[in-house]
Amino acid sequence: MPIIATENYFRLDTKTTSYIFCVHKEKYLAHLYWGRRLPEPSNLAHLVDTEITRRPSFTTNIIGSPAYLEDTPLEFACCGTGDNREPVFHAVNPDGSTVCEFCYEGYHLSSGKPKLEGLPATYSENPGESQTLEIITKDPRTGLRAILSYSIFDGSDAIARSIRYKNSGSEIVEILNPGSMGIDLWGLDYKILHLHGDHMRERNVEVVPVTNGLYSIESKRGHSSHMQNPFVALLRGTDEANMEHSGEAFGFSLVYSGNFRAIVEGSRGGSTRVAMGINPFNFHWLLAPGGTFQTPEVVLAYSASGLDGLSAVYHPLYRSCLCRGKFKDKQRPMLINNWEATGMHFTEKKILEIAKAGAEIGLELLVLDDGWFGHRDNDLSSLGDWVVNKEKLPNGLSGLAHNTNSLGLQFGLWFEPEMVSPDSDLYRAHPDYCLHAEGRPRTEGRNQLVLDFSKPEVRELVISSVTDILHSANITYVKWDCNRNINETAYLGHAHKHMLGVYEVMEKITSAFPDVLFEGCSGGGGRFDPGMLYYMPQTWTSDNTDPVDRIKIQHGTSIVYPPSSMVAHIGRTETGKHEFNQSLHFRALVAMCFNFGFQLDLSNFSDEEKEQSKEYVKTYRKIREVVQFGDFHRLESPFAPDGYASWIAVRQDKAKAVAFFFQTRPHRNGPDRRVRLRGLDPGKQYLFNSFDGSACVRFGAELMEAGLKVPMNEDATMIILETPRKYNP
Ligand code: DGJ
Repeated sequence: MPIIATENYFRLDTKTTSYIFCVHKEKYLAHLYWGRRLPEPSNLAHLVDTEITRRPSFTTNIIGSPAYLEDTPLEFACCGTGDNREPVFHAVNPDGSTVCEFCYEGYHLSSGKPKLEGLPATYSENPGESQTLEIITKDPRTGLRAILSYSIFDGSDAIARSIRYKNSGSEIVEILNPGSMGIDLWGLDYKILHLHGDHMRERNVEVVPVTNGLYSIESKRGHSSHMQNPFVALLRGTDEANMEHSGEAFGFSLVYSGNFRAIVEGSRGGSTRVAMGINPFNFHWLLAPGGTFQTPEVVLAYSASGLDGLSAVYHPLYRSCLCRGKFKDKQRPMLINNWEATGMHFTEKKILEIAKAGAEIGLELLVLDDGWFGHRDNDLSSLGDWVVNKEKLPNGLSGLAHNTNSLGLQFGLWFEPEMVSPDSDLYRAHPDYCLHAEGRPRTEGRNQLVLDFSKPEVRELVISSVTDILHSANITYVKWDCNRNINETAYLGHAHKHMLGVYEVMEKITSAFPDVLFEGCSGGGGRFDPGMLYYMPQTWTSDNTDPVDRIKIQHGTSIVYPPSSMVAHIGRTETGKHEFNQSLHFRALVAMCFNFGFQLDLSNFSDEEKEQSKEYVKTYRKIREVVQFGDFHRLESPFAPDGYASWIAVRQDKAKAVAFFFQTRPHRNGPDRRVRLRGLDPGKQYLFNSFDGSACVRFGAELMEAGLKVPMNEDATMIILETPRKYNP
């Protein structure tokens, strides 16, 4: 059994790891171990024997006194019981006190993984493929229960943790911090890796040491945000020059798209606490007797072999057990999007010219971006008025979709359903529909306001207007955008209620249109998070299509998110700032590593550019399955000073692989560049066209151990490796 539970000792064995905790002093949950799989039986309860390690101090009790918690590694920390580190949970009791002592009551073990009410979460289709342990705890004074849930999945090293708070008392409890999980890992010798950035600079990798004190990664913007991603990893024993393949990595990824917080706290007792969940900032929830509050889940992942191993846990889990619907395993279409070509200034004729040029080079889908509705010629108006602009599109969306289909392309459409422009019929009719603090000016971002999705009438209106449009034409793809922060909630807890409303609307619309491929977007990658991937299996990674910048963005994103979730297009050269590396070739290869498409005026391409593009499309068709669904490994990091980056995608049967090599700045007389490939079958012989065009045959072991010499003066190259029978009888 992968989960072994007794009354006071719990052990979760995943594919290669063990996660162990116990009931300490008959009531508290103490964390014992998370790491490489241990032999059975192993009893680690002695690790929290406080009598041996207790250090007298004015902050703790003296030897022989009742249990104190400050020096105990905990699995779930509350407030006011002697543990003075950052709590996972904090609430005001009916009597005004804030002490909470969740004591162990019992456990429940089941196969499968229950849904989380109203929230996105990992799942398993077949109950035999996952197992869930629930630990029930109760505060004796208020009757409040916290039910800690742990799910594991067959063949995976992930553990999904969440908490359900249930008011079994007779009076209201005011929750201030509804943490999803906490853990105290032994030692302070960790580094914190997180993904930070900005619009156009999403998910840069930063590594900082754990110190004695608190480090917080968070969003208060109402979105998971461009600035911080709801992900943090602790690295131990990692060689910084080889983060991908050395040391242990402990990952924490929150399945939520709103305000979040992850804290990492090095404590005086020598352990490191990680706690994660909805951001307590501006949070307040009245939990009535009988009521429950379900937290979002955190997906924990462990790797004994660096970051590469961590991605190898997250990628398949998020691809198959978080993304849903028929597209999750389906090859994604190569598309042309008109945004960088025309902005909002287009005519039907222009769009069809672009579509025709796309069809000629072999693309499969046209996406009409912002500007097709109301009188939207700039970002000052019309959000909320989802009525086609007949001046731009005299034949309506159905006519445009029909004409696009006649060219052999599917038709996709942009929406921004969560927003309203002050200059819109919707706002004029319902100024009360947007988020607004009474008596204050309405804050605008990109000249727009946010609809209050906590209101049922708003949700219904949005569902019906998007539904009507999707029924009005042959639309098989939707890009769902969201272009501002949500910083004007009117009451405490409003941001979470709004988020739950957004999830409800997404659930209803995406399940009503199972044949439509939905893509998330938020000013590029401002909401690239696991919560969104539950509803939409892919996300526009960034508005920055400059290939040099984009390499970093894609590299950082790939630490958690699978290649099939990342959308990458060839953009206009004008978008870029770097003079080096603007060739079509470089831009194409950077985009071809993920879900490939174009975002420029193809109808203006020269014959030479068209021919070149045709070749990229042809090549992508050959490699699409491998790059979208293969195992992805980062080989060289663009965050290292040498200006190289490389990646490889390997088909799961290891019979085919595609490797990409980039140079992000010019090198003169630098040292030879040799790259060791990853993920191949060491015993198989791979055939590939080398950089000079000659056919080569090499064992996987040679390519992975001795490496491949990569040309120093090419900004972008790729090789496709195959294992023909001839060489592998
Ligand atoms: C932001 C998106 O990231 C862009 O791709 C584009 O769709 C614009 N919004 C349209 O307003």
